[in-house]
Amino acid sequence: MLYDTHAHLDQQAFADDLPVVIHRAREAGVGRVNVIGVDAHSSRQCVRLAAQWAPLWAVVGIQPNDVAEAKPGDWDEIVRLAATPGVVGLGETGLDRYWDHTPIDAQKDFFDRHLRLSQASGLPFVVHMRECEQEVLDMLGEARRRGPLRGVMHSYTGSADGAAQAIELGLHVSFAGMATFKKSDELRAVAVSVPLERLLVETDSPYLSPEPVRKVKRNEPAHVAHTARRLAEVRGEPFERFAEATTANALALFDRAE
Ligand code: NI
Repeated sequence: MLYDTHAHLDQQAFADDLPVVIHRAREAGVGRVNVIGVDAHSSRQCVRLAAQWAPLWAVVGIQPNDVAEAKPGDWDEIVRLAATPGVVGLGETGLDRYWDHTPIDAQKDFFDRHLRLSQASGLPFVVHMRECEQEVLDMLGEARRRGPLRGVMHSYTGSADGAAQAIELGLHVSFAGMATFKKSDELRAVAVSVPLERLLVETDSPYLSPEPVRKVKRNEPAHVAHTARRLAEVRGEPFERFAEATTANALALFDRAE
């Protein structure tokens, strides 16, 4: 069994055929999928989907690029949702200096809120990091001084050293379709450097389908099998062992309501 730890199945791209998408995931051996919120509305949708579909579990939060749009009360809504059944994590959160949608100080404020809520609730957090590796690691380091961390660097594209530091702080590292692209030798080397017991896989659906289905515009959870196969291959591990280990890691991290 495989576990797609990051998919945005609440998005419009899946509005017309979600049952078929979930069926294809099961057929591909994907037994469990985390559906990830990006704001209060999307987080509510994710909780609803998790209540409706057995393989789906919800992660609730406000994505760094969406922080500027957050209305008063939205954060309280996330805190409330975090305590509802079917919710297994907080996010996505983190920092993003690629897009210019939200001032960095507001992003840091919300990243800090997710980290503190994680430490108070025991729910793991899901980190989005784009062009701000040191700042993310600094904030994680600061949070670590308050207490243990449970979380994952999602769709990781940072350095091997950054991954090692995140692991040292107690985090897992998750790889998405980009790790299968022909030009991604460097990223695959990073994936090889991560100890198997800290490794996760994801699709980040509907974005960036992996090879060999990269031309399929809309990515979906069934495709996580391609990423898992490629990573097992470059790591020199039998696929079955890789699948079993990454799924066990994800089940242990997102263990609420099991
Ligand atoms: Ni995402």
